[in-house]
Amino acid sequence: MKNFKDKVVYQIYPKSFKDTNHDGIGDLNGVTEKLDYLKKLGADMLWLTPFFISPQNDNGYDVENYYEIDPRYGTLEDLKRLIHEAKKRDIGLMFDMVFNHTSTHHEWFKKAMAGDPYYKDFYFFKKGKDHQPPTNWESKFGGNAWEYVEAFDEYYLHLFDVTQADLNWENPNVRKEMAKIVNYWLELGVTGFRFDVINLISKESFEDDFTGVGKRFYTDCKKVNDYLRELNEHSFGRCQHTMTVGEMSATTIENCLRYSKQENHELDMTFNFHHLKVDYLNKEKWTLMPFDFKELKQLFNDWQIGMQEGGGWNALFWCCHDQPRIVSRFGNDQEYHRESAKMLATSIHMMRGTPYIYQGEELGMTNAYFTDLKQYRDVESINHFHILKKQGLSDDEIYAILQSKSRDNARTPMQWDHTLNAGFSDQTPWIEVNSNYTQINAEEALKDPNSIFYHYTKLIQLRKQYSVIQEGEYIPLLENSNQVFAYLRRLGSKMLLVLNNFYPKEAAIQLEDIADYELLLSNYPKQPLKKELILRPYESCVYYRE
Ligand code: GLC
Ligand code: CA
Repeated sequence: MKNFKDKVVYQIYPKSFKDTNHDGIGDLNGVTEKLDYLKKLGADMLWLTPFFISPQNDNGYDVENYYEIDPRYGTLEDLKRLIHEAKKRDIGLMFDMVFNHTSTHHEWFKKAMAGDPYYKDFYFFKKGKDHQPPTNWESKFGGNAWEYVEAFDEYYLHLFDVTQADLNWENPNVRKEMAKIVNYWLELGVTGFRFDVINLISKESFEDDFTGVGKRFYTDCKKVNDYLRELNEHSFGRCQHTMTVGEMSATTIENCLRYSKQENHELDMTFNFHHLKVDYLNKEKWTLMPFDFKELKQLFNDWQIGMQEGGGWNALFWCCHDQPRIVSRFGNDQEYHRESAKMLATSIHMMRGTPYIYQGEELGMTNAYFTDLKQYRDVESINHFHILKKQGLSDDEIYAILQSKSRDNARTPMQWDHTLNAGFSDQTPWIEVNSNYTQINAEEALKDPNSIFYHYTKLIQLRKQYSVIQEGEYIPLLENSNQVFAYLRRLGSKMLLVLNNFYPKEAAIQLEDIADYELLLSNYPKQPLKKELILRPYESCVYYRE
């Protein structure tokens, strides 16, 4: 049995982590430079978002060459040194495999466009219907998902940007290439793999969608399981100590069980995003709505129990490079910055699954609150600025939405210290630094024993120390509370009680069984556990008994 249940993954967006060669862009040497910091935090595995050769239309998720490092991030030697130095500290590396699509700059796509039938079959080229695209599917970044190619009088599919062409996994030659890429990196000592939007790789049928944007024809199709099993068998499944996670777009518990059950030999765990859509009005991202706390709780409880009963495994996370900062989103980045950031961390880390921390989350980094389109870099945000404008929204309304929803909120440079550009770079960074870096930064956090950073280190240590956190059963508690998210974890006679107040006001709760619990962690000065307990604003407590 593989053991990843006591591990914690730290996600790095290299472009925004640390610049060492003075070009305003973070690089691999920057990651190496900060390994001691990451060790101090307690990270076991570093997931690096793609740093392969890419035109960077989607910041590296448009890969031009899966084997070569983009020179702006460094060289193969730099990477080898990073792997080596990380290993010395008992830290593994997890690479991001973007296998649903390649960049249109990839040589396969270029050969396809030159008419080579072997490579045309690597992608989806289809005839249109009455001068219209083959289907009415929408791209996730806005607009129709098909691009017309005059030379063939055909369209190619791109579920994301027009420069990200979807790969045809039906083609066994594509599947062979994918396994070859994984094997190449495995041999270089990479032990983790994150598979980007991997539940979209099978397109079941090319039909118009009259009730949606096309998702049901290409999401969680049955062949995804076959493809993953095959990839597992031919690559990472041959190594003992790998850890794999799949990013699942608009998925279900049933499907994630299939992907993550060990006996299925597909992946170790899955990301899903349902809990991060509870502030979408009518399921639409580019809207404003306070988060629906009851729905959030329900989703956590359903996924925790569903995955547990079916023997699957969840990746636990609030933040990543695609999500706004959690403390600004479901916490309070002003008056209760510290309390709410710690509470949010506890609520996730004590659940059943593997926690992921996104760079800067351990400092309580906040949204960017950019006020001008010129400050934005993300293709999705820029596209949606124009889409919302066409829909008739005012600039003020659009900026309010971007400030809360843009992926750039997560992509501002890591705040290392209070010096120029937050110590990220001595040159103008590729994206602006958040102006609050003089207060929120790693140097300050490391000096303060009560900081959010040390709260994260404690959460990670608790996971390693207490088997109930790794293995225990998840039992929801106080399900009707409008303010408190609470649960128990149970392993034999070992019990963990976790209480989280999600609001800036006190919460009165009633507990039935409080015998013999000792406090393990809180974000407030200790208060005795009572049957009738008042939790302070954003208070969170973890109690344990044996
Ligand atoms: C995933 C990535 C995201 C990227 C998209 C297309 O969702 O996390 O950043 O834009 O896939 O590759
Ligand atoms: Ca650099």
